[in-house]
Amino acid sequence: MSALADIVPHVRAMGEVDLRPVLAIETAIYTHPWTHGNFLDSIRSGYDCRVMELAGELVGYGVQMIGVREAHLLNLSVAASWQGNGYGRSLLMHFLEVARQSDVLQMFLEVRPSNKVGRHLYASMGFYEIAVRDGYYPAPHGREDAILLALTL
Ligand SMILES: CC(C)(COP(=O)(O)OP(=O)(O)OC[C@H]1O[C@@H](n2cnc3c(N)ncnc32)[C@H](O)[C@@H]1OP(=O)(O)O)[C@@H](O)C(=O)NCCC(=O)NCCS
Repeated sequence: MSALADIVPHVRAMGEVDLRPVLAIETAIYTHPWTHGNFLDSIRSGYDCRVMELAGELVGYGVQMIGVREAHLLNLSVAASWQGNGYGRSLLMHFLEVARQSDVLQMFLEVRPSNKVGRHLYASMGFYEIAVRDGYYPAPHGREDAILLALTL
């Protein structure tokens, strides 16, 4: 393996064998994580599920559902110890590129109002707010709204 492979992350399809490290990250970074079944269903339903690796270590992953001319980004995650290094942006760009290649015209996603990093990332990529879904997310004390964002590709 070249030295470059140690510093440049590699994105590939997520398989069922990846679910152990994916779930380890997922349960560490979310108060209400996806379950094993959520990821398994996504893979088996043919959603666009990808992992990002760096020097053999799984540093991030995401899931998008691609439909007719529309994509919905359902999950975008970077392991806590790797956050803030540009990998989230890079993974998001990867999903956008896959969507473009699938003739998607618009991508949608939900984000918590309290998720400052996520909101900053999406806004900086051109996503704009189109709706608020009341009480969409479970939260430590009750429910939290979701901001529905869209990007025209
Ligand atoms: C949101 C997430 C995917 C972003 O990935 P990341 O690798 O941490 O972010 P990046 O390093 O690509 O940075 C993206 C932007 O956020 C900013 N940012 C990253 N971490 C930050 C922090 N802790 N505080 C403030 N800003 C931060 C970066 O500065 C960058 O903006 P800039 O280019 O204008 O400087 C990642 O932090 C994560 O997995 N968080 C927990 C799960 C989550 O919230 N997922 C999204 C659900 S919608």
